[in-house]
Amino acid sequence: MVTKMSYWDERYNRGRRSSVYEGILKVRERMWAMIPMPLPDHVIDYGCGDTRFWLAGQYCDLTPEYVGIDSSMVAIKWLRDNFRLDAHFIYGDWQVLRDQPPAPLVLCVDVLFHILDDQEHEDTVVALAGASSCYLFLTAHVRNPYPEGACPDYLTFRPVPDLTSLGFTKIKKEVMGPIEMALFLKN
Ligand SMILES: C[S@@+](CC[C@H](N)C(=O)[O-])C[C@H]1O[C@@H](n2cnc3c(N)ncnc32)[C@H](O)[C@@H]1O
Repeated sequence: MVTKMSYWDERYNRGRRSSVYEGILKVRERMWAMIPMPLPDHVIDYGCGDTRFWLAGQYCDLTPEYVGIDSSMVAIKWLRDNFRLDAHFIYGDWQVLRDQPPAPLVLCVDVLFHILDDQEHEDTVVALAGASSCYLFLTAHVRNPYPEGACPDYLTFRPVPDLTSLGFTKIKKEVMGPIEMALFLKN
């Protein structure tokens, strides 16, 4: 059985990057344009993968405290071996996120639609909100790209969460195809 661990570990073991779709750099540029600047001094990047999103912003040396969390041990080990020594790379899922001191900026880029279990998805959204003391930037679906239920490559339909009851207001959004990039601010 393919689990979230084996899917991503195998992918990274084969030398594949966390995201490969065409035009990714352009998409990343548009995401970065939505992220508040100057960057706060503490950022949590949930589902950081190989930090491709973070590196696309070229801000990796500007943030004193960068915490990357991912449920792929292969990705985390690679990052620990190859990245800045003062960055923190943590292996785990929403339970690890829940235990982090809140950061003024939490990123969750192209992760939610890879969480197949409904309860885990819900727990992750709650933990993301709890981990942010100010901004939360995430990507999710604005419409179902898999109406027939045939999801490719360990994906599923995850609509942009409504974070009102968790104390957040959506202050910016941009839609690209079926994906919405959304920036939330804590009330
Ligand atoms: C498409 S990649 C995105 C990586 C990175 N955010 C980026 O944009 O380059 C998805 C990542 O989410 C991680 N992931 C999937 N489910 C997760 C979960 N429940 N908790 C933490 N990380 C998860 C995978 O291991 C993978 O590295």
